[in-house]
Amino acid sequence: MSQPLKLGVLGSGSGSNMQAILDAIDSGELHAEIVLVLSDNPEGYILERARKAGIVAEVIDCGGYKTKFPEEKQAAVAAQLKEAGVELVCLAGFMRLVKQPMLDVFPERILNIHPSLLPAYPGLMAWKQAVDDGAQESGCTVHYVDAGMDTGPIIKQAKVPVLADDTADSLHQRIQVEEHKLYPEVVAAIGQKLRQ
Ligand code: GRF
Repeated sequence: MSQPLKLGVLGSGSGSNMQAILDAIDSGELHAEIVLVLSDNPEGYILERARKAGIVAEVIDCGGYKTKFPEEKQAAVAAQLKEAGVELVCLAGFMRLVKQPMLDVFPERILNIHPSLLPAYPGLMAWKQAVDDGAQESGCTVHYVDAGMDTGPIIKQAKVPVLADDTADSLHQRIQVEEHKLYPEVVAAIGQKLRQ
C-alpha cells in the first residue's frame, strides 16, 4: 500500500471539518495522515481537537493584524508545512486570505471548503447571505485556492435545500453535515490521483 497522504490543516474556529477528515482517516475511508494543524486563533477549538488526537498543533501569530496574513508570515507557514512533509494543504474555516508565497510553494495543492454553491455567495457568512437572499438552495463547495476570495477552480459541490423556516444557523448546520462528507471524499480522491 502507498504511503498515506500527508495533510496540513489551517483553521481558525471549531475545526469540525478537520475532525471529519480525522474521522475518515480513522475509519479507513481516507488514506492520509494529518501531520500539522495551524490556527491563527489561539482560542480556536481546532487546536484542542488536534492535540487530543496527538497531532502537532500551533498558533500562527499574525502580529496583531485582524484579517491580514502578512507575506513574511505566509512564507514562514509554507516553510513549516514543507518541513513537516505536507503534500496537500486543507483550509478548514481559515479566516485569512492565502496568497503568494504559499500558493507558489504549494501550486494546486491548497484546498478550501466554502459553505455555499460557489460562485454564489463568496466571502463571510455565506449561509446568512443565502437566507437573506431568499435562495431556494445552497450547499458547500470544495475548491482549489487561488489568490482571490473563494474564486479558485471548483472540484466538487454538495447541495442543500433552503427551507422556508430556515434561520442562518439552521441552514449552516445542515450545510456542515454535507461539508463533513464532502471534504474527506474530495481529499481521498485527490490523494488517489497524486499517488497514481
Ligand atoms: C465551515 O462552514 C466552512 O465551510 C467555512 O468555515 C466553517 C468552518 O467550520 N469555511 P469548522 O471550523 O470546520 O467547524
